[in-house]
Amino acid sequence: MSETQTTYNYKVVRQFAIMAVIWGIVGMAVGVFIAAQLVWPDLTYGIPWLSYGRLRPLHTNAVIFAFGGSALFATSYYVVQRTSHVRLFSDGLAAFTFWGWQLVILLAAISLPLGFTTGKEYAELEWPIDILITLVWVSYAVVFFGTIAKRTVSHIYVANWFYGAFILAVALLHLVNSAEVPVTLTKSYSAYAGVQDAMVQWWYGHNAVGFFLTAGFLGMMYYFVPKQAERPVYSYRLSVVHFWALIFTYMWAGPHHLHYTALPDWTQSVGMIFSLILLAPSWGGMINGIMTLSGAWHKLRDDPVLKFLVTSLSFYGMSTFEGPMMSVKTVNALSHYTDWTVGHVHSGALGWVAMVSIGSIYYLIPRMFGRKEMFSIKLITVHFWLATIGVVLYIASLWISGVMQGLMWRAVNADGTLTYSFVEAVKSSYPFWAIRFIGGLLFLGGMFVMLFNVLKTASGNKAVEAPVLTPAAHHA
Ligand code: HEM
Ligand code: HEM
Repeated sequence: MSETQTTYNYKVVRQFAIMAVIWGIVGMAVGVFIAAQLVWPDLTYGIPWLSYGRLRPLHTNAVIFAFGGSALFATSYYVVQRTSHVRLFSDGLAAFTFWGWQLVILLAAISLPLGFTTGKEYAELEWPIDILITLVWVSYAVVFFGTIAKRTVSHIYVANWFYGAFILAVALLHLVNSAEVPVTLTKSYSAYAGVQDAMVQWWYGHNAVGFFLTAGFLGMMYYFVPKQAERPVYSYRLSVVHFWALIFTYMWAGPHHLHYTALPDWTQSVGMIFSLILLAPSWGGMINGIMTLSGAWHKLRDDPVLKFLVTSLSFYGMSTFEGPMMSVKTVNALSHYTDWTVGHVHSGALGWVAMVSIGSIYYLIPRMFGRKEMFSIKLITVHFWLATIGVVLYIASLWISGVMQGLMWRAVNADGTLTYSFVEAVKSSYPFWAIRFIGGLLFLGGMFVMLFNVLKTASGNKAVEAPVLTPAAHHA
């Protein structure tokens, strides 16, 4: 067998892992920038392509699809090879997914500031880019499931179930929600109209959270937490129940994004009930991850990578408690349209998604570059604290401003007139937006520390040989 057939394909894992760090910095820098625009609205002197409305979707696309997406590609390609004991199904297709995905990101970075958008949140990219996404995604599915098909062990490890569900569900969501009628190269209209359009959009939007921002990252959890803790998963049975319950429940919860709208009332109630049920599988998964540390808790003291992974699970638990609460109609009446939602988003996005990715990438990088460990463990600890303090500042300030906004908007005087004008609520929010800006800056600072550490690790002397696919290397 030639060299390329006897070793794992680490090249594509390495490429995606590095790009995850870079896109993380870019996406979060745009996040910090728009956070600054909320504090200083005249920051960009009215230049249209730097306006808040265009940069906000650039931020969400960059962090979710460029940063999160690259982290998911990197880890899933690694995990599927290690747990199937075979090289990726096709090197060529895997390389196509890397370059194709980078092209999607580049086109997003150009088209969104220019103002081209479908107007559908998290699905803003115009139809030619949608087609490219479809091609990349189908190739991804072929590589992933092809690798599973040619595995040399009979068992399919649970992490792969989560990655597989993420790949299939995102394909379905993208195809259904992006159905559109092209008018020109840069403009299309949704195939749906009115309340159906809203319903399809938030079926997509919520499952983008459930599958893009959760299921794939649970795949990471099920591989990297046991690996880093050097313990088996706490309960394999629970992981299977977790999988099926989560997959089944998420699909129905979307209407909680459309409470008190023209959507039929019963659909809103279905959304609320399924969101409440969702607490159980979410916490089952979180507990399974955290309990994997049984007997290894002492490792948390001096292993910052494990700190990242376990803290991410705590934020996962927190945001999946908060979400079901916010889906209760009476709570949503207060939280909707306020900063509370944005705080919830980032306790999931920064606390869970970013932290579990960061922990997993710290695990991967030394192995991808044939090193024994990261260049500096101390710097990982520095990163951990910058990130943790950053998230806490971010979400705590927005909880306060969110509840404050909700209460100010609904306050009425004895004669029925509003107690506060909208502008007064905006003015009262400024101090909290400034704290969020500082929190974001700290989180971003941590990412620069990571980049430095990664580059130093990559450029250091080779310490260990790359693993070869011999029977001796046949362990996950
Ligand atoms: C059991 C789990 C969860 C439930 C039931 C849930 C529920 C909710 C609810 C009720 C809202 C507010 C909708 C509104 O008033 O507009 C919301 C918003 C949101 N949540 Fe969650 N959430 C959960 C977990 C998560 C996690 C883990 C993340 C991130 C990783 C996340 C990301 C988001 C995003 C991005 C939005 C904002 C959508 C938008 O308006 O643009 N959620 N969620
Ligand atoms: C340094 C880190 C970050 C900062 C400073 C930041 C800042 C912001 C700001 C200012 C907004 C707009 C809020 C508004 O319109 O009121 C926003 C929205 C959003 N961000 Fe971030 N962000 C960061 C990281 C992330 C990450 C890592 C993710 C995902 C993995 C993420 C996902 C989102 C989403 C989904 C929204 C839209 C929320 C909604 O519509 O309710 N952000 N972010």
